[in-house]
Amino acid sequence: MLSAGYGKKKGRIGLEMSEETRYLTFALGKGRLAKKTLQLLEEIGITCEEMKDKDSRKLVFANEERKLRFFLAKGPDVPTYVEYGAADIGVVGKDTIMEENRRVYEVLDLGFGKCRMCVCGPESARELLQHHEMIRVASKYPNIAKDYFYNKKHQTVDIIKLNGSVELGPMVGLSDVIVDIVETGSTLKENGLAVLEEICPLSARMIVNQVSMQMQTERIRKLIYELRERL
Ligand code: PRP
Repeated sequence: MLSAGYGKKKGRIGLEMSEETRYLTFALGKGRLAKKTLQLLEEIGITCEEMKDKDSRKLVFANEERKLRFFLAKGPDVPTYVEYGAADIGVVGKDTIMEENRRVYEVLDLGFGKCRMCVCGPESARELLQHHEMIRVASKYPNIAKDYFYNKKHQTVDIIKLNGSVELGPMVGLSDVIVDIVETGSTLKENGLAVLEEICPLSARMIVNQVSMQMQTERIRKLIYELRERL
């Protein structure tokens, strides 16, 4: 998206001015990722004091001096805001990027929020994965599950979308296995389940709107460079 002021000034000079004066907007996935992202941004001198006020009901916060805006959104909505240009930059988990499959550039692995996307279930389900049997797979991530089973394993499965506590699937007989995030592994362990196959590693990533990347190249590249130096 272009800034309101963009287009009034023509030619190269206009472009440079707009790069400097336009707000750069960040969409951060609510929760731990946002907290960690703000800490990291502080390390490169980008702060947003407004955001620290816990009593505030504001949804969009600004750093007027550096022409930056920040807002918090539900994780799965972050790639949507970035694709449509409502945010220039987003920070969200790789799981969400894969599941949402939006047209955005993934530019940086921030290295925190590390976990794994896995196929999990009771040990007894292990052999069902080896013989290409028709099985039921419960997941909060139906697109990731579909891609893994159909395109990588070439196994036809019945995918059942759940919205949370996915471990219940095999425990109560809804599904044979699940596709879910494993961090410490304690949820699986406490419920008698195990990792049966690993799909991919996950972590927090920075994504950028495709037009912003062209129009705000210098500012965004500088930001990526500075962040990379800290990782
Ligand atoms: C996630 C994930 C697992 C759990 C894994 O759930 O879906 O259930 O964390 O973490 P662990 O390996 O450290 O035990 P989340 O807490 O996000 O809630 P949800 O089940 O409602 O998705």
